[in-house]
Amino acid sequence: MSAAADDAILRVENLQTWFELGSRVAKSVDDVSFTVGRGRTVAVVGESGSGKSVTSLSIMRLLAPPGRIVGGRILYRTATGEEIDLARLPESRMRGVRGREIAMIFQEPMTSLNPLYTVGDQVMEMIRLHEPVSAGEARARARRMLELVEIPAAERRLDDYPHQMSGGMRQRAMIALALACNPRVLIADEPTTALDVTIQAQVLDLLRRLQAELGMSIIFVTHNLGVVAEIAHEVVVMYAGRVVEAAAVNDLFDRQRHPYTKGLLACIPRPGMRRDEVDGQVRLTPIPGTVPSVTALPTGCSFAPRCPLAVAKCEEPPPLIPAAPGHLSRCWRHEDV
Ligand SMILES: Nc1ncnc2c1ncn2[C@@H]1O[C@H](COP(=O)(O)OP(=O)(O)O)[C@@H](O)[C@H]1O
Ligand SMILES: [Mg+2]
Repeated sequence: MSAAADDAILRVENLQTWFELGSRVAKSVDDVSFTVGRGRTVAVVGESGSGKSVTSLSIMRLLAPPGRIVGGRILYRTATGEEIDLARLPESRMRGVRGREIAMIFQEPMTSLNPLYTVGDQVMEMIRLHEPVSAGEARARARRMLELVEIPAAERRLDDYPHQMSGGMRQRAMIALALACNPRVLIADEPTTALDVTIQAQVLDLLRRLQAELGMSIIFVTHNLGVVAEIAHEVVVMYAGRVVEAAAVNDLFDRQRHPYTKGLLACIPRPGMRRDEVDGQVRLTPIPGTVPSVTALPTGCSFAPRCPLAVAKCEEPPPLIPAAPGHLSRCWRHEDV
């Protein structure tokens, strides 16, 4: 899949992030690799618990103990062309990367917005943390950021506290905060999941437009393959802490090379499906069974217990191999999917 190495801005290589919980070890992320090209969007997809957020937090180096990167590299190419390994970067240098070079937006805006400060103050503080500008200039830039994310009456909204905004406006404010220092990589962890479908579509449009204007790369984390079709260039499918399939978006939608991805795609809403009255979400037929606990993974293929194609061979762990040019699959039976 993906960009040639010299066009890559971020290369995650064999990342392992584990939580050591007494005698148990949760291998939340175990041997995850993918590449993000300049100006490209890579979608990271998988059901809840597959390790998407732990991957994102590892790149940002925002893991809370006992979470720890135990192996692999996170190679980030700086603006000067130097490649640095974020997995090993001292925290003092990481502070210059986080927010400025690589920023993150979360599913829940209140994770990054502080309820005690106005939105304007928070955006200004982010700018002044990284750049030596006056308070007046920071305020002017903060206003421009709110305009960029299409918050109406930006000048007045600067003085709003987060709770004075609607959910959709808060999501925009969080995006403005993340983009305040013009990061080269944006990690968006389920940024639209909590929003109703109309606002969700608006936020996706906004991210696409900002990407075109600012040329940033995006890692877009979601459990929704419908969203992937709209926003991604490349797709990485995760299951139980591992990459099970990775391909360019059209290749993945044309033909799946892993039964898990095929199952996920069968869950995409189609016209005529019944809508849930409460939250406007479409009720779907999920893949039977659940993601295994990452403290007790099967020894062979982790998907085998739920897999309609499982055979005796699947008791051996399958490697991630090219099933077709640029199309990786971790399935012994990728030809039969
Ligand atoms: N703070 C934590 N302590 C222990 N285990 C954790 C912690 N955070 C995540 N995990 C484990 O990592 C797995 C993956 O979590 P996560 O990356 O949040 O999944 P998702 O794909 O839904 O974002 C979880 O199922 C859980 O077992
Ligand atoms: Mg998550």
